[in-house]
Amino acid sequence: MNKFEFQNPVKLYFGEGEIAKVAKEIAPGSKVLVTYGGGSIKRNGIYDQVMAALKDCIVIEFGGIEANPDYDTLMRAVALGKAEKVDFTLAVGGGSIIDGTKFITAAMNYDGDPWDFIVGKAPVPAAKPFGTVLTLPATGSEMNCGAVISRRATKEKYAFHNAKGFPQFSVLDPTAVFSLPKRQIANGIIDTFIHTTEQYLTTAGSPRVMDRFAEGVLLTLVEIAPHLIAEGTPSYDDCANFMMAATMGLNGFLAMGVDEDWATHMIGHELTALHGLDHGVTLAIVWEGTMNVMRREKEAKLLQYAERVWGITGGTSDEIIDKAIAATDNFFRSLGVKTLLGEYGIGEETIVAVRNRFEERKWNLGENGIVTPEKVEQILRCRL
Ligand code: NZQ
Ligand code: ZN
Repeated sequence: MNKFEFQNPVKLYFGEGEIAKVAKEIAPGSKVLVTYGGGSIKRNGIYDQVMAALKDCIVIEFGGIEANPDYDTLMRAVALGKAEKVDFTLAVGGGSIIDGTKFITAAMNYDGDPWDFIVGKAPVPAAKPFGTVLTLPATGSEMNCGAVISRRATKEKYAFHNAKGFPQFSVLDPTAVFSLPKRQIANGIIDTFIHTTEQYLTTAGSPRVMDRFAEGVLLTLVEIAPHLIAEGTPSYDDCANFMMAATMGLNGFLAMGVDEDWATHMIGHELTALHGLDHGVTLAIVWEGTMNVMRREKEAKLLQYAERVWGITGGTSDEIIDKAIAATDNFFRSLGVKTLLGEYGIGEETIVAVRNRFEERKWNLGENGIVTPEKVEQILRCRL
C-alpha cells in the first residue's frame, strides 16, 4: 500500500429536487455567471430550476460551450466574467461544462496567456469560487480538481489539475439522466468503468479495501448498464446508482494507496483531438489494446479482475486474461459502441501521429512510466 494524502472539499447535494439548494450556497445579490452547453438544460427543465434557485442573484449567462470544451470559446467566457466582475460561477452540465468552468474560473485570475497553465508551462492559478449542477454522470469532474481542455485550432487536448480549483459544491440530481441520449449514457458508463480500471488494473499489492471498492463500482455498472441502455426512461434507482458510481469513480477516493495508470485516457485524448470522437468511445477503443500489450505487467490484477468481476477462472493465465478482455469488449459493444479504430475509419497515419506526439512531449505513461511511446504504437496497432 502506497503512502498517500487525501483531501476533497466538495460538498454534495444528492437527490431529486436538490437543485433548489443552490440558493443556500450562493449569497443573495451575488453576480453569478451561469455556464452551460448547447441547450439540453433548456429542454429538460434544469435551466428553469437553476434560475428559480438564483432568483435573488444577478445572473449573467454564457451558453454554447461544446462537448470537449474549446479553448477559444472558453476565452470568450473568461473575457465576459472579467468584464462583469462576477462573484461566483455556476456550471450547469456534464464534464465539458464543468471542466470549461474550472478553466474559466482559473483564467479569470490570470494575466498571462492561460494556455501556458493548461500545458504545464506555468503554475495553475487558484480558481475564483464556483459550483456545479451535474447533468451527465461520467467524468467525476463535479468532485475532482481536474479539467480537460480541447483546442480545435491546433487539434490538441490537454488535462490540468488545480488543487485550488475544486467546486465549492455540486448538485447531483439523478433525474437529469432521464433526458440523456443513450449514446451519452453509454459514454458515461464506459468513462466510469475505465476511470475505475485506471486505478485498479495496475500493480499487485494495492489496498484490499480499495480493490473491493473498485470492484464494487465495476460490478454495479455491469449490473445496471442493461437497464440504463434499454429503450425507454430508466428507473430513478438505476440513474441514482449510475450517478453515484460515476462520482465515486473519479473523486480521488479509489486512488488512495494505489498505483495509477491513465495510459488509456492519455491515448484516448489524442483520438478526440485528432478525430473529434466522444471521450467514452476513445476509451472503449484503446482499453483492450492497453490490457493486451501490458498483460505481463498487469497480470496479477487482470487475473483478479477476471475472477471477481466476470467470474472467469479455469485455464492458463493468458487464456483467463483473453476471456476477461473479451468479456469487457462485449460489455462495451452491448452499449452500442464500436471498439476498433477501423470501425471509425482511423488507420496507420493516426497511430504514427500519436506516437510522434508522445515522443516529442517525452511522455512515458502508465503506472511507473511503463507505457513508452513504442508501447503506445503497439497498443493502437492492435486496435486497427
Ligand atoms: O451541450 P448540451 O446541449 O447540454 O448537450 C450535452 C452534450 O452534447 C449532452 N447532455 C449533457 N447532459 C444532458 C445532455 N443531454 C440531455 N440531457 C442531459 N441531462 O451530452 C453531451 C455531452 O456532454 P459532455 O459534457 O461533453 O459529456 P461528458 O460529461 O462525457 O464530458 C466529456 C468531457 O470531460 C472530459 C473529457 O475529456 C471530455 O472533454 N473528462 C474530464 C475529466 C475530469 N474533469 O476529471 C475526466 C474524464 O476522463 C474526461 O477526460
Ligand atoms: Zn474519462
